This record gives sequence, C-alpha cells and structure tokens, in this order.
Amino acid sequence: MSKLKSCFICSLLFVVFCPSSGFFGSGDSFRRKVSVEVNPGLTPPSTLPPGVHLVHVRALGQNDTLHFLFCNQGAPSLLLVHTNTTESTVHVNWPEFINRSSSGGLQVEPQSSVQYSSALIITRLWEYSDVNNTADPQHTSESSFYPPYELQDFIWSEFNQSDHRIRICGGDRTAASFTNGTFCLQISAFESEGRESAWPGLLHNSNSSQLRVSLEGVTARVNYSRFSLELQSVGDSGFLGRVDVHRSIDDEYTPSIFKVSQWVSLPVNSSRVWGYAQWKPVAYRKSSPVTEDATPCSHTEPIPMARLPPSALIQAYFSHGPQTYGLNVSFGIAGDAFYNATNYLSWTVLMGVGDPPVDSFSVFIICIMAVGLGTPLVLIIVGVVFLWIRKRTSQSSGYEPIN
Ligand SMILES: *[C@@H]1O[C@H](CO)[C@@H](O)[C@H](O)[C@H]1NC(C)=O
Ligand SMILES: *[C@@H]1O[C@H](CO)[C@@H](O)[C@H](O)[C@H]1NC(C)=O
Ligand SMILES: *[C@@H]1O[C@H](CO)[C@@H](O)[C@H](O)[C@H]1NC(C)=O
Ligand SMILES: *[C@@H]1O[C@H](CO)[C@@H](O)[C@H](O)[C@H]1NC(C)=O
Ligand SMILES: *[C@@H]1O[C@H](CO)[C@@H](O)[C@H](O)[C@H]1NC(C)=O
Ligand SMILES: *[C@@H]1O[C@H](CO)[C@@H](O)[C@H](O)[C@H]1NC(C)=O
Ligand SMILES: *[C@@H]1O[C@H](CO)[C@@H](O)[C@H](O)[C@H]1NC(C)=O
Ligand SMILES: *[C@@H]1O[C@H](CO)[C@@H](O)[C@H](O)[C@H]1NC(C)=O
Ligand SMILES: *[C@@H]1O[C@H](CO)[C@@H](O)[C@H](O)[C@H]1NC(C)=O
Ligand SMILES: *[C@@H]1O[C@H](CO)[C@@H](O)[C@H](O)[C@H]1NC(C)=O
Ligand SMILES: *[C@@H]1O[C@H](CO)[C@@H](O)[C@H](O)[C@H]1NC(C)=O
Repeated sequence: MSKLKSCFICSLLFVVFCPSSGFFGSGDSFRRKVSVEVNPGLTPPSTLPPGVHLVHVRALGQNDTLHFLFCNQGAPSLLLVHTNTTESTVHVNWPEFINRSSSGGLQVEPQSSVQYSSALIITRLWEYSDVNNTADPQHTSESSFYPPYELQDFIWSEFNQSDHRIRICGGDRTAASFTNGTFCLQISAFESEGRESAWPGLLHNSNSSQLRVSLEGVTARVNYSRFSLELQSVGDSGFLGRVDVHRSIDDEYTPSIFKVSQWVSLPVNSSRVWGYAQWKPVAYRKSSPVTEDATPCSHTEPIPMARLPPSALIQAYFSHGPQTYGLNVSFGIAGDAFYNATNYLSWTVLMGVGDPPVDSFSVFIICIMAVGLGTPLVLIIVGVVFLWIRKRTSQSSGYEPIN
C-alpha cells in the first residue's frame, strides 16, 4: 500500500512542480520601467488639431531604452525606437511637427544611440461586397470594392488613458456609416512578460507593445460586406520586410487557431531579426467573444510602397531614405457570416524588437497532459505492483500448508 501511495505522490509532484520549473515556459524575467507622457513639451501657442495626440511611452531597461510613439495626426502610427542608452530622450519641434513641413520635427537624441527604428501605420479600411461569399479580396473584381476609408481623414473624438493603456476612437464623419459607429485603437505597453485576458491573448514581453483595432457598430455599405485593413511598415533603409507564417499551438488563449504570422524586419544579408509585428490570423466578431465569434483572417504579401504613408509622426521622424512596405489583412473566410451579422470586428497585433515571442504550453495544458499521461502510468504501475504482491502472497501461502 505504501508503494501505491508514493507512486501517487510522485505523479502529484510531477503535476505540481513541472510547470513551475520553467522547462515548458520561456521564464523571461526581464522587466522594464514604463512611463507614459502625452504631448511631451507641447506649450501654447502650438496646439494640435482637436482629438489628435502624441503619446510617448518610455520603457527603460538596464542598459537600453525603448521609445514607443503613437500619433493620430494623419494615419495613426506606432513608432518604435530602440537606443543603447538609458539617457535617450525624445525631442519634438512642435511648430515643425504640426506644420508637417519637413522631416526632423521629431528626433530621438542622442541620434548615435539609436539602434533600430520601425513603425506600423494603419492607412486604409477597405470594404467590398462579397456576393459570391469567397472572402478572397485578391480575386474579387475591383468593381466590388467601395472607395476605402482613409484613416488620415478620420476625426478622433475619444481619448482615454489609464495606466499603460491608451484608447482612441474616431471615424469618417463625412460617411453615414459612421453615424452610429466608431473605429477604435487601443495601445498597451508592458513592463514584463504576460498576456492580456482578452482573446487572442497574445504572449507579450517587455520589448513589445500591442495594438488592438476594432470596428464597432459601423454600418456596412452593402449586405454582403467584408472588410480588410491596409497596413504599412516603415523602417531604416537596408531592411527587408517579409511575413513568415509559423505553426502555433491551440491553447485556451486562442482556441482553434494553429498559426501565427510574423512580419519581420531584418537587415539585408542577415538572418537576425531586428523587429517584428506579430499577429494570430483571427479576428473576433463580438467584444466579449466565444469560440463561434472567431473569424480567420488572411494577409497579402508585403509590397514596396512608392511613398511614405500620410502620417505626421512618420514624416517628422524618418529622414534618411526609409523603406516602406504595405500589405492588407482581410477578415473572414468563405462561407462565414458577413459583417452585418454582429457589426463588430476586432483584431490584435504585437510590435516589438528582437525575436518575436513564441507560445509554449501553458500550465493549464501541462496539467491536463500530466493527468492524461500520468493516470494510465499510475494505473499500470499499480497493476504491476498489485500482481507482484499477489504473486508473492499466493507463493508464500502456497508453501504454508507444507510447513
Ligand atoms: C549592461 O552592460 C554591462 C556592461 O556593458 C553588461 O555587463 C551587462 O550585461 C548589461 N546588462 C544588460 C541587462 O544587458
Ligand atoms: C509651414 O510650412 C509652410 C511650407 O510648407 C511654410 O510656408 C510656413 O511658414 C510653415 N509655418 C510654420 C509655422 O512653420
Ligand atoms: C551605442 O551604439 C553606438 C553605435 O550604434 C556606439 O557607437 C556606442 O558606443 C554605443 N553605446 C553604448 C553605451 O554601448
Ligand atoms: C461571382 O462568381 C461568378 C461566377 O464565378 C463571376 O462571374 C462573378 O464575376 C463573381 N462576382 C464577383 C462580384 O466577383
Ligand atoms: C477610460 O478607461 C477606463 C478603463 O478602461 C474606464 O473605466 C473609463 O470608464 C474610461 N473612461 C471614459 C471616459 O471612457
Ligand atoms: C443610426 O441609429 C439610428 C437610431 O438607432 C437609426 O435610425 C439610423 O438609421 C442609424 N444610422 C445608420 C447609418 O445606420
Ligand atoms: C528584451 O531586450 C533586452 C535588452 O535588449 C534583452 O536583454 C532581453 O533579452 C529582451 N527580452 C526578450 C524576451 O526578447
Ligand atoms: C439586405 O438585408 C436586409 C435584411 O435581410 C434585406 O431586407 C434587404 O433587402 C437586403 N438588401 C439588399 C440590397 O440585398
Ligand atoms: C446580412 O446580409 C445577408 C446577405 O444579404 C442577409 O442574408 C442577412 O439577413 C443580413 N443580416 C442581418 C442581420 O441583417
Ligand atoms: C548582400 O550580399 C550580396 C551577395 O553576397 C552582395 O552583392 C550585396 O552587396 C550585399 N548587400 C549588402 C547590403 O551588404
Ligand atoms: C489592398 O487592397 C486593395 C484592394 O484590393 C488594393 O487596391 C491595395 O493596393 C492593397 N494594398 C496593398 C498594400 O497591397
């Protein structure tokens, strides 16, 4: 009986201690000190247009600093600048920045400390009529497309900052579709590794920040309406843009999704990734989704763009012949419900420096695996021990009558 008990305790210990050993998780303990400031150094007479903000997130490491800058003057953009000192600062020449007359309106100083700069810009929201229900915008006739909503023309009405999260909402106020609806962006900065509870619960670390896009209550222009989002990426010259699709695990954070897409930027002739935008190919059709509200998405290959995106932040920061790539992320697959079913869509992307985070099995899954694999093992061991004891006792009892 004591053997059975110790076996049971053994497998219990396995279940309890295995996950915390850090063998399955990356166990990244690197932390940054994060602070947020809005419109740093802006004083009258300089003023930004109504609803427009420049948000600066400083994420301080031991030897380095990450600056995340977000601005919605023009197309909304998130710029990431990595410096190799803790002393680097963001300097905004406000009259120049607001006038958008030239580059150099925003600089990270000292400029020699800048290791890497990259930006993600949301330029357009495309809408098309998918009467054949193929959810394949690339093979849909051009006449099915409506004129895109240009995000540079949006009027932004809501701005809400709490802790390390900023939410802004707006819309094309000249379009009837936006009378009852908004386009919202939520930017989150992180001090350490973790996940947000809301799906897709992307794994983030201290070197990343997250952008969630949502289309809330916007009226579709046609019944068979589907949307896609045009994104652009701007980086220093000499960088390549490429989207890799990797297998991922299906866990409780992103049920039924087995892939992760990574738009990486890496120097020409090098395989070392400098930065990335990472997303799970899934969007949600409700703000508090269940599994059925997930809708897959797909992306086109990045193509070089001839000009910089119409964003004040990008025009002010990049000066030395930066490179711009663009792609579309489209929502829905053939046969899926159209946008009008819920009038809601949300999609999330993570942006950061270094290697993109890799999902590992969670404690929850490991426990299930341990119980699933452990229980038969325990049963086999118990069975063997039982047979052995029975054999021993029957042998010994077999000798007894002779004695
Ligand atoms: C910071 O720099 C020092 C010396 O340059 C180095 O030994 C240390 O590992 C660095 N720390 C981090 C966290 O990179
Ligand atoms: C804004 O830019 C224009 C040229 O694009 C220039 O004529 C004007 O003086 C600038 N205004 C300010 C306040 O810098
Ligand atoms: C930061 O990087 C620059 C070049 O990229 C280099 O010259 C400088 O020495 C580095 N500073 C530190 C503190 O590592
Ligand atoms: C729908 O499918 C038909 C037949 O395949 C094709 O002729 C038509 O152009 C498609 N309609 C659109 C809007 O793509
Ligand atoms: C701002 O966000 C916080 C937390 O997300 C929320 O509690 C609050 O109601 C929001 N404020 C406005 C004005 O929307
Ligand atoms: C906006 O909502 C009002 C009231 O619910 C409705 O009458 C109107 O048709 C809606 N507008 C659009 C463009 O959907
Ligand atoms: C984040 O960046 C710091 C400094 O460059 C590095 O030491 C650390 O390993 C990075 N963490 C991850 C998870 O990439
Ligand atoms: C759109 O759908 C509504 C509700 O099903 C229907 O009444 C209307 O006729 C449809 N319009 C078109 C153009 O198909
Ligand atoms: C959405 O559009 C489809 C296609 O016209 C229609 O069948 C359906 O009834 C519409 N759904 C709603 C909720 O209006
Ligand atoms: C990349 O490698 C090719 C061939 O090895 C070489 O011709 C080219 O100059 C290299 N480009 C850069 C930017 O180093
Ligand atoms: C996005 O899709 C639209 C419509 O198909 C197309 O006109 C546009 O060129 C695409 N943008 C990119 C960057 O591929």
